[in-house]
Amino acid sequence: MTSGTLLHQITDYASRADPYPLYAELRRTPVSRQDDGVYAVSTYWEIVSLLRDPRLSSDERNRVAQAGEALPPEEDPALPPSFIRLDPPEHDRLRRLATRPFGPPHCPRRVHDMGGELARMVSGLVDGFQGRDQVDIVEDFAYPFPVMVICKLLGVPHQDEARFHGWAETIVSALDPDPAEGPAERQRVVQQARSEMGAYLAGLVAEHRRAPGDDMLSALATDHGPDGQMSPVELITTAVLLLIAGHETTVNLITNGMLTLLRHPEALKRLRADPDLAVPLVEELLRYEPPVQLLPQRTALADIDVAGTVIPAGASVWLVLASGNRDPRRFRDPDRFDPLRRDNEHLGFGNGIHYCFGAPLARLEARLALTELARRLKDPRLVEDPPPYRQNPVLRGPRHLPVAFGGLAAQR
Ligand code: HEM
Repeated sequence: MTSGTLLHQITDYASRADPYPLYAELRRTPVSRQDDGVYAVSTYWEIVSLLRDPRLSSDERNRVAQAGEALPPEEDPALPPSFIRLDPPEHDRLRRLATRPFGPPHCPRRVHDMGGELARMVSGLVDGFQGRDQVDIVEDFAYPFPVMVICKLLGVPHQDEARFHGWAETIVSALDPDPAEGPAERQRVVQQARSEMGAYLAGLVAEHRRAPGDDMLSALATDHGPDGQMSPVELITTAVLLLIAGHETTVNLITNGMLTLLRHPEALKRLRADPDLAVPLVEELLRYEPPVQLLPQRTALADIDVAGTVIPAGASVWLVLASGNRDPRRFRDPDRFDPLRRDNEHLGFGNGIHYCFGAPLARLEARLALTELARRLKDPRLVEDPPPYRQNPVLRGPRHLPVAFGGLAAQR
């Protein structure tokens, strides 16, 4: 089989439940040119070096310029790319501005201080299981929880979830390399969803500017730091990014986590007895079943020599994080789920200048969620293994995770 068909097989829905044997095949050629000219990078050190290489751009406008393609969805003149799709210096300025109301040094306690409220949210969701003997971990827990959290953090009314959920799903579908309806139609639909979500958030930002609260949108709209302020349009694109990133990824970490724990009952038992295990366990989940499997949207700005292969200027590059996480040259016994693993510098949150902005929050959410599920569900069992998966090969996780159980332990 050529490596071209191999990458296709990986993104094919039939491989969604277990792409890992295919990643192992892909790693035989650390940097492989696909039939369509894309370069897939599948080994740990090569991925890390490229994530830190300024010659590899995240700005899709470079790909378009090189390939002479039609405008991508993000190239909406009304709504420019958000900072995840920008290079320095714009990326760095916007990330610094977004960090001011979120983390150190200006707000070092923002995430930490949310801990009590997040714990109440998870226990409230599990209380809702009362009287049932089966739940869908996705619909009943792993999706609503991060949505509540990101709404609270940003200052977005939770009751608007039905409005922005559809836009968010459409926008992340842009990451699917094989859209059912064809790339041009997908591009149109994604652009429309982005504009509608942007208009919705613009309205909210205007309200927060008039009457600021203790939330990130208010801070971004009113705060003046050393870098000044985001322009109105930068603020909207950042809000779209945070709202989507805040809830389309953590759902998969929690769901993949519960699935993995139910497949490894000894780990579930240990977590129940020792909640501190949640810290290394969540790191191992980010390595073993990463919610972001690959980064498909980078462009080489110059010829780049990696592992003896030259990626030519203008080429599209896919960094297969989930494959790097199972690279035996980096991790001992990589296909083993080991919640006590040390030396676990996984690629689950990426690496380099685009390293996940929300990592501290995602970690806290996953630790609290899995600890609560482990502690409160008596005798939990998988109803379907493997469960049905979402279509998206990039943000990979179960669409539903039905779990049967024999009652609930009391709240602490
Ligand atoms: C388990 C949950 C999460 C995972 C696995 C995850 C994963 C990632 C990865 C792999 C990247 C790097 C993208 C790249 O290099 O192109 C990233 C970037 C990013 N993430 Fe997350 N993420 C998660 C949760 C969150 C949350 C909760 C937020 C918001 C509060 C967030 C906000 C962002 C932002 C804004 C970026 C772009 C950073 C930049 O370009 O400098 N993420 N994330």
